[in-house]
Amino acid sequence: MKALVLAGGSGTRLRPITHTSAKQLLPVANKPVLFYGLEAIRDAGITDVGVVVGDAARAIQSAVGDGRAFGLRVTYIRQAAPLGLAHAVLTAREFLGDDDFVMYLGDNFIVGGITALVEEFRSSRPDAHIMLTTVPDPRQFGVAELDHAGQVVGLEEKPEHPKSDLALVGVYLFTAAVHEAIAGLAPSQRGELEITEAIQWLIQHGRKVTSTVISGYWKDTGNVADMLEVNRMVLESAEPRMAGTADPASELIGRVVIETGAQISGSRIVGPAIIGAGTVVTGSYVGPFTSVAPGCIIADSEIEYSIVLSGASIRGVRRIEASLIGHDVEVTPAPRVRGAHRLILGDHSKVQISS
Ligand code: G1P
Repeated sequence: MKALVLAGGSGTRLRPITHTSAKQLLPVANKPVLFYGLEAIRDAGITDVGVVVGDAARAIQSAVGDGRAFGLRVTYIRQAAPLGLAHAVLTAREFLGDDDFVMYLGDNFIVGGITALVEEFRSSRPDAHIMLTTVPDPRQFGVAELDHAGQVVGLEEKPEHPKSDLALVGVYLFTAAVHEAIAGLAPSQRGELEITEAIQWLIQHGRKVTSTVISGYWKDTGNVADMLEVNRMVLESAEPRMAGTADPASELIGRVVIETGAQISGSRIVGPAIIGAGTVVTGSYVGPFTSVAPGCIIADSEIEYSIVLSGASIRGVRRIEASLIGHDVEVTPAPRVRGAHRLILGDHSKVQISS
C-alpha cells in the first residue's frame, strides 16, 4: 500500500503568509503541519509516499528531503497547477500503479492518526473508504448522505443545500478502481477535477464505498482560526521541557517547552506554550496556547493564543492575541502621534486596529 500526500494547494485563505511560505509548512507547536501527516502515515506501516507539490515544491522538498528522517521513501510529483484532488491522483498515476493507497491532504490534521483506518481497509478492501465528521457549516466541504443503515448513498462537493452535516475529512483510502472513476470526470464549476465526484461515480457504478464517522479532532488548517485551534490542541498535550535558560526573575507555569538555547528573563510564561530554539524573551508575558518559533525576540510585550514564525521580533507591544505573525516580521509600538498608524503590510494582510 502506498500513500499520496497532497501539498500542491496555494493557501489563499492564509495570505499574506502563504505568499512566501507553503501552508503545509506552517508550524503547529513549532513543527510543520505536514510532518504530523507524514508521521501518521509512517505509524500506519506505509513507507512508500508520493508527495504532490505545486509552486512551493522547493520549500517542501528541502523540509522533507528523501523522507528518511521520517522512516519513509518519498517521491515528489509535480502538479503543474492546482486543478483538484482528482487531478492530483491523475498526475500521480505512474507512481501509484495499481496499488491501494491512502490519500492524505497535507493541510489536514487528524488526532489519533490513521492506523486503525488503514488496518480496517486492508482487511475489508472496499473500492473506497472515506472519513466523515460533523461540522457546523457543511457548505464549505464535500458532504455525504448516508442511509438508515449508515451506507453512503451520495456525495456532493460544497453543496449550497447540504443533505447532512457530515463533511468529508481529508483522508481517503482507495483501490485502483478510483482511476477508472477519475478518467470519466469533467472539471467542476470551480474548474477542478473533484475527488468527491469520483467517489460518487464509484457509488453510482455499484462499487463498494464505506465510511467511518470520526468524533475525534479534525481540522483543515486552511485558515488562521483553525491553525490557532490546532496549535492550542497540540500544545495541550506537549511534554514540559527546559533546554534553554530562565533567570530567577522569570516564572514558568504549567506545560511550558523551552527549546535549546532559548533565553527567558524577567518574564512570565503561562503554558501550554512553546518557545523555540535561540528565541529571547525579556520583560514579557507569554500566555497560554502560544507557539514562538526559533530565533525570535519578544521584549517588553504581552502575547497569547498566537503563533509567531521564525525570526520575528515583537517589542514594547501590549497585548497581542489570536494572531499569526510571519517570518522576520517586526512589531513595535507607534510613536505618540495622535490618530495616526504607520503600517507596512504585505498584500492580503489583515490587521485589526483599535481606534
Ligand atoms: C477538499 C475536498 C472536500 C473536503 C476537504 C477537507 O476541499 O474537496 O471535499 O471536505 O478538502 O479538507 P478543498 O480544500 O479543496 O476546499
